[in-house]
Amino acid sequence: MPAKVDMDKIVSLCKRRGLIFPSSEIYGGLASCWDYGPMGVELKRNVRDAWWKSIVHERDDVVGLDTSIMMHPGVWAASGHIDSFTDPLVECKSCHLRWRADAIEGKRCPKCDGELTEPRMFNLMFKTSMGPVEEEASTIYLRPETAQGIFVNFDNVITTSRKKLPLGIAQIGKSFRNEITTGNFIFRTREFEHMELEYFVKPGTDEEWLDYWVKERFDWYVKLGIRKENLRLRQHGKDELAHYARDCYDIDYLFPMGWSELEGIANRGDFDLIQHAKHSGKDLGYYDAEAGEKYVPYVIEPSAGVDRSVLAFLIDAYDEEEIEGEKRTVLHLHRSLAPIKVAVLPLSRNEKLTPLAKEVFNKLCPSFVTDYDDSQSIGRRYRRQDEIGTPFCVTIDFESLEDKQVTIRERDSLAQIRVPIEELGKILGAKLKGEAFDASALWATRQK
Ligand code: GAP
Repeated sequence: MPAKVDMDKIVSLCKRRGLIFPSSEIYGGLASCWDYGPMGVELKRNVRDAWWKSIVHERDDVVGLDTSIMMHPGVWAASGHIDSFTDPLVECKSCHLRWRADAIEGKRCPKCDGELTEPRMFNLMFKTSMGPVEEEASTIYLRPETAQGIFVNFDNVITTSRKKLPLGIAQIGKSFRNEITTGNFIFRTREFEHMELEYFVKPGTDEEWLDYWVKERFDWYVKLGIRKENLRLRQHGKDELAHYARDCYDIDYLFPMGWSELEGIANRGDFDLIQHAKHSGKDLGYYDAEAGEKYVPYVIEPSAGVDRSVLAFLIDAYDEEEIEGEKRTVLHLHRSLAPIKVAVLPLSRNEKLTPLAKEVFNKLCPSFVTDYDDSQSIGRRYRRQDEIGTPFCVTIDFESLEDKQVTIRERDSLAQIRVPIEELGKILGAKLKGEAFDASALWATRQK
């Protein structure tokens, strides 16, 4: 059964709450392009950071890299993208809409039932020219994957990082694909962001490492709050494998339109390093001092999309609940992904409350992404914070002026505890790390 929320609700929430806007909206928008608003940019950054933390910072066998989007055109000849990065395209002879032949059923146009042309192969790379003269020799491509920037730097990293195999090189960055059909919001776009790891291993150990990375990556989504029942693993059939892959698993997510790929984990073998060695004339072999032999490493590649992950996290977190007869829309985002961690909300905009509320805000914002909001009723402000997934609201009321205590309201349980302002940073820090916190001691403080 597809997820219980439909895509329109997600698109509408994203627009309403400043997560994601149609690109160039005042000009009528540009197909398949989206802009991340003030809340979206935080969410997207948190997704990237969570990936980087688990892939690079929490391990000693992976290093990071940031390579340029525009690369020597020889890279794409070597990688096979010029010849093989294609989709079969058909065009409707009546309405002239273009379709991916393998994504439609039957031989008629899905829009107007018109006759379709025979399929022809369409290359998905965006071409542009480098320099002021537009000529064949200056043609370059916007990268369709970040992986190639890693392969062409393999030797640089190995010789400078003093690391041994198995070694991973990770990169996050924009990729571009002139997709024939886009859609489903940020699921498939022509400009998107990749999070890719190329994990170099000794040939013969590759299958083991493929299993390892499939499990690691599956667990990452679960750890960040995606329900297991909305994820599945699917091995590619032999006829489905990309031109470079020996084996591949998709982690699929149950999107509103049905099960679809969230991430691919491929065994690329030695395809890329061999190809780049051939085309560049550089030796890309690795000398394994322990084994006393030289070989071309195999590569396991977990490749995920930032935007597609953002979409899956949003869909999985979305909920509509009824609280005391009123509807509440809430994003149960994992605390590490929530755009805002703490909202400071004075009960009302009042000259007595404002200085204390500002003091609390100033105390918290160096440690947590904190929002300050004193407009409209407290109920409406809670609703706004629920809709963007803020895990904790801190309310300052008139009693706070006397007892120097404030109320923490939890997004998911709606529990409220009253705590001394002095302890607030410590308590929120523990809660945001997921540590249990015993409030009974604080109630005792209050009674004194
Ligand atoms: N380097 C291997 C590679 O790029 P892929 O399966 O084509 O593999 C990996 O892409 C991931 O990148 C996908 O699982 C998806 O999350 C994301 N992705 C690919 N094409 C996309 C597009 N047009 N729009 C948004 N995300 C995309």
